Amino acid sequence: MIKKGIILAGGYGTRLSPLTKAVNKQLLPIYDKPLIFYPLSVLMLANIKNILLIVNPGQIESFKSLLGNGKKYGIKITYKIQKRPKGLPEAFILGKNFIKNDNVALILGDNFFYGQSLTSKLEKSLFHKNGARIFLKKVSQPKNFGVAKISKNTIEKIVEKPKKNISNQAITGLYFFDNKVCKYAKTLKPSRRGELEITDLLNIYKKNKNLKFEFIGRGAIWSDAGKIDDMTNVSNFVESVEKVQGIKIACLEEIALFKKWITKKTLLKNIKFYGNCEYSNYLKSL
Ligand code: G1P
Repeated sequence: MIKKGIILAGGYGTRLSPLTKAVNKQLLPIYDKPLIFYPLSVLMLANIKNILLIVNPGQIESFKSLLGNGKKYGIKITYKIQKRPKGLPEAFILGKNFIKNDNVALILGDNFFYGQSLTSKLEKSLFHKNGARIFLKKVSQPKNFGVAKISKNTIEKIVEKPKKNISNQAITGLYFFDNKVCKYAKTLKPSRRGELEITDLLNIYKKNKNLKFEFIGRGAIWSDAGKIDDMTNVSNFVESVEKVQGIKIACLEEIALFKKWITKKTLLKNIKFYGNCEYSNYLKSL
């Protein structure tokens, strides 16, 4: 059972500059909440309560003033500083003491997932003991992502940012790994863009015939919000769903309350913390 999760929220967010000159990308708004709420809600929906947040030096206090130690959401958040972004697999090098002998999930701080079908897929994935599991989503611009070519229901090839179109199934920023991931991450060498690549890590699992996948079907949506257009699109999507349906996406208290991880008293404390705002009004309605 996977009980630990890492959110990688470092990086300079250069593609979003000047927005990211003073504020971390993951603290920028997606409609009515900071971006970090969305990946955090995904881990919470997957019943992962023990979370390591990897952040930039100098920005740790901003994250702490928002999320604290996670108690207010009925979870535990610890922090680790990434001095310089060296690629996604560095999460398993920096997170070694957090992971210890356990299996672990990784989600990228700028990834947005939404859809009911996703929750059951996530819960199912938590039971996997050996190997790695990835989630694939059909995209129109595969050259911007790591992609997986699937044939006869197995992964034939994995390529990072393919120049030639070999598949339109993007590898989304949510991964489940067994404990070998720490050992494998240490063996990786930087790619041509100077980073350790998650696709190289996945290729080790593939070589060992230990890489499984799930399709995020048409009933759910995924987007990497690392560029301004994606951010605006996701923001507009959240706004539309929330306004039309009168619900909130990624309301951390709602998830925690539903799972009985927090009490009404904590909820009231959180309302006080956020102050008089629309998010608080929603919390009151819960
Ligand atoms: C990273 C990964 C890529 C993955 C993507 C998902 O890309 O390297 O394999 O498909 O995240 O968001 P990057 O954000 O570094 O361009």
